[in-house]
Amino acid sequence: MSDDFPVRVDQRGTVAVWTIDRPARMNALSRSTLVALGKLAREAEDNASIRAIVVTGAGDKAFSAGADLKERQGMTDDDVRAQLEIYRHELGPLDRSPKPVVAAINGVALGGGLELALCCDLRVAAAHAVLGLPETSLGIIPGAGGTQRLPRVVGEARAKEMILLARRLTADEALAWGLVNRVTPAGTNVVDDAVAWIAPIAEGAPLAQAAALEAIDRASCTSLEVGLELEKVSYGKALASDDRREALAAFAEKRQPLFRGR
Ligand code: COA
Repeated sequence: MSDDFPVRVDQRGTVAVWTIDRPARMNALSRSTLVALGKLAREAEDNASIRAIVVTGAGDKAFSAGADLKERQGMTDDDVRAQLEIYRHELGPLDRSPKPVVAAINGVALGGGLELALCCDLRVAAAHAVLGLPETSLGIIPGAGGTQRLPRVVGEARAKEMILLARRLTADEALAWGLVNRVTPAGTNVVDDAVAWIAPIAEGAPLAQAAALEAIDRASCTSLEVGLELEKVSYGKALASDDRREALAAFAEKRQPLFRGR
């Protein structure tokens, strides 16, 4: 795998699987890894053959151990500030992707690794996965959205517990806290499990799924009233689609709908 583009791309049916392929560095997020993920997410937006995306790490030890601490060693404070902007710029398209994005957490997800998983819509963890934001034990704070996205997922008290205590959760603890949606049964590969689990996405209507993601993501940080207005705007997009009419026709004709993403 090239150092310039350290993400392996596979297509499994309608699911794109992106594998961070830097196992010797625990799939740490170098600059080129972030840029590669950003490029893939931007390209996937208009690619109709991709209905969902699974992000994972090579091997079974690490989803990602976060910032590449070796790359960071030579960096000045300004370099680190610039790196944080790269996180924001390159993970943004994944976070805002109109396609459902799933993190298949195949091992440790620490620091930026967990922050990457938090940019995903759904999280599936291998039974041996470990999730944490250890930054305060390293003299920094989570800088790739962790202080903002983690409380939205697990609540403020649990987010503070994880961040202040640098607490690492097991997969089962993460499931109990709602940080992951599912733990893969032992003996099953987490990517295979994630791809099988999200199979219903391919049967659904793409525009409706994109509109639902938009409504949920945009409304989560606002008041209920504003959120309900945003939901109305997103609903309007699904309402105007051929797929909505197709679903009604299929129901009347007692057949499965054939969605075309229009
Ligand atoms: N950046 C760059 N390289 C990393 C890395 C990171 N974030 N995390 C691990 N590596 C490298 C190690 O340096 C080691 O390489 P080496 O053999 O050339 O020295 C290799 O990956 C294996 O790591 P090692 O620590 O030997 O494996 P382990 O199984 O004992 O522990 C971790 C794995 C992930 C628990 C441990 O490496 C760790 O805590 N890493 C730092 C994670 C972290 O704090 N991330 C947040 C940064 S803000």
